[in-house]
Amino acid sequence: MIQVRAIDKSYTLPGQKITVLKKLSLDIAEGDFVAIMGPSGTGKSTLLNLLGCLDIADSGSFILEQNTISKMDDRALAEIRNRKLGFVFQSTIFVDYLDLPDNVAIPGFYSGMSHFDGRQRAIGLLKQVGLGHRLSHLPGQLSGGESQRVAIARALFNRPRILLADEPTGNLDRRNSVEIVNMLRGLNAEGLTIVLITHDETVARAAGKIFTMQDGELKHHAGQ
Ligand SMILES: Nc1ncnc2c1ncn2[C@@H]1O[C@H](COP(=O)(O)OP(=O)(O)OP(=O)(O)O)[C@@H](O)[C@H]1O
Ligand SMILES: [Mg+2]
Repeated sequence: MIQVRAIDKSYTLPGQKITVLKKLSLDIAEGDFVAIMGPSGTGKSTLLNLLGCLDIADSGSFILEQNTISKMDDRALAEIRNRKLGFVFQSTIFVDYLDLPDNVAIPGFYSGMSHFDGRQRAIGLLKQVGLGHRLSHLPGQLSGGESQRVAIARALFNRPRILLADEPTGNLDRRNSVEIVNMLRGLNAEGLTIVLITHDETVARAAGKIFTMQDGELKHHAGQ
């Protein structure tokens, strides 16, 4: 489903070049649940941004379901993102004055779905993530765990083939982490391919395969 071959990625700042990913390769099959661990600043989010078609590598190749991402322009990338990918970011941004269904339906505004249909689907997703009793809340009125559920509901809005989640349990206590992880496992069991970044060994163990980011490359850590 995903084939990454020898990608390099560096950032150029005035007076310095920061090399983050070095000849990194990764294969992800349909239905996989992959966790990526590793110390802060080692390039995990950088990799997820590349997988999420939010950025492109300096060199190497990246193929996502027969699409050669490494050769696409911004418009084509945006289209792939909308059609295939759901993203849960390390820090979640909501629109404060919109209620939860409208926040979850935001991806629908870009694909031309009507407001009514968008809200209907969003309400279904909010129920699915256990927030059916919070539909008239604003984002500022949620707990951390609830916010992450909303972020996941929004990431699922366009029925993605792959969910990319950057520290979805980062600021949560054990109980809430377990609930989010169980939810992800349920989605994976229904066929969703998941790539998850986490610092938490317990969370990572929910995945079938665990990789660790080290020296710009991924080391296989556990799982098949
Ligand atoms: N846009 C950017 N411009 C310049 N440097 C950047 C940029 N984004 C990230 N970096 C640098 O690249 C390195 C990798 O960053 P990245 O965000 O991928 O790390 P990470 O593994 O996700 O860390 P964390 O666990 O703290 O989230 C860091 O040293 C960071 O300072
Ligand atoms: Mg990060």
